[in-house]
Amino acid sequence: MANTRALHRKPQASHVAIIMDGNGRWAQRRGLPRLAGHAKGVERLRDILKACPDLGVTHLTLYAFSTENWKRSETEVSGLMRLFRRYIRKESARLVQAGVRIRFIGNRHRLDKDLQGLMAWLEELTSPFTALNVTVAIDYGGRDEILRATRRAMTAIEAGDLRAEDLDDATLSGFMDTADLPEPDLVLRTSGEVRVSNFLLWQAAYAEYEFLDLCWPDFTAEVLAGCLDRYGTRERRFGAVAG
Ligand code: FPP
Repeated sequence: MANTRALHRKPQASHVAIIMDGNGRWAQRRGLPRLAGHAKGVERLRDILKACPDLGVTHLTLYAFSTENWKRSETEVSGLMRLFRRYIRKESARLVQAGVRIRFIGNRHRLDKDLQGLMAWLEELTSPFTALNVTVAIDYGGRDEILRATRRAMTAIEAGDLRAEDLDDATLSGFMDTADLPEPDLVLRTSGEVRVSNFLLWQAAYAEYEFLDLCWPDFTAEVLAGCLDRYGTRERRFGAVAG
């Protein structure tokens, strides 16, 4: 007999992706340097990671630095890189203790060698864990990722390992940085901007979106819980008609 409780269960977003926007504005409104906003953003991240398992979130993907963010001032770019390095060094023990697995996506060879080394070290250190899967997008752009995936697919075709007519949705997904990850159910963006900004263009084809009118340093576990509740009330049809 069908489990009616399961049939009536509200949809749960198990993979949430977040564009953590508005750190700079949050700081500037308080007369603080922009980097103070990014530092506050890291604190929020800590709370959110802690809250995810209880909220039923198994995968969290975070947009930390886009391919376009290199255009920012040298002070801000180097400050952000310093923050990433410090985050990895300071948080690794906490992440291991909480059973959090960290992966990075993006074009990492443009980053400083020491940051690349720390990223590889943290991925390896946390690879056995499953309590929460966190993917951090650094030097990431959706178009850049699709181009790199296309090049990998073409290399496989040229090598005779893949036939062009066999290149389909699933095969190209396998060439993406996110090959081992499920697609996001819900994409959130803070700061009031209503844009996708080159984030997960391929993977979020069927995701629900919510744009929040608050800056990332004001995003709390309660706000995330509210987004997940609203997601539960949405009807997801993936292009089909309502049943
Ligand atoms: C966007 O705000 C935010 C960023 C470009 C950086 C996000 C980074 C963090 C939250 C740091 C922590 C991340 C990790 C993984 C350690 P903005 O500067 O564009 O804000 P604005 O639109 O108000 O200028």
